Amino acid sequence: MPGMESPPLPELRIGMGWDRHRLEAGRPCMLGGVLIPHPSGPAGHSDGDAVLHALADAVLGAAGLDDLGTLFPDTDPRWRGAPSSEFLRAAVAAARERGLRPASADVVVIADAPKLGPHRAALRASLAGLLGLPAARVNVKGKTTELGQADRIEAYAVVLLSGSPA
Ligand code: C5P
Ligand code: MG
Repeated sequence: MPGMESPPLPELRIGMGWDRHRLEAGRPCMLGGVLIPHPSGPAGHSDGDAVLHALADAVLGAAGLDDLGTLFPDTDPRWRGAPSSEFLRAAVAAARERGLRPASADVVVIADAPKLGPHRAALRASLAGLLGLPAARVNVKGKTTELGQADRIEAYAVVLLSGSPA
């Protein structure tokens, strides 16, 4: 019927990210913005949160923006020592400026230790809060290497953005 055209469907953009950090004795174990009780934690200029770094890169990738290290260099005093949650928040804000917002996200964490099982609910809630999504649209799963590599933590993230980019 004339004048009854459907509004244009939102566009979907997918992005992926990966990160790995060395686990160092005595460092706080920050993962997905959650402090996990563990005798070692990720080394790095920032808090070394590999999950948030992978997710932020996935958001930037999906939005057609640059990458984490280019946008938030640790040589810039604004970002030096910043909690990684700020990187993800800034990546989501940059995507929103382009007319895209998170629709869902999924993360695989590869670590022989710590076990994520007891922390999955807290991780999902933390990531959902940072992405502006209900927890049901965000998931995090832990996997071991089966190789006894308790000295590292690795994260893969995929993110779907939707909207009407300019
Ligand atoms: O790697 P693998 O298949 O042996 O992992 C089996 C299960 O152990 C996973 O599906 C997950 O439930 C749990 N796991 C975890 N945290 C890890 C590694 C594995 O919760 N860091
Ligand atoms: Mg990193």
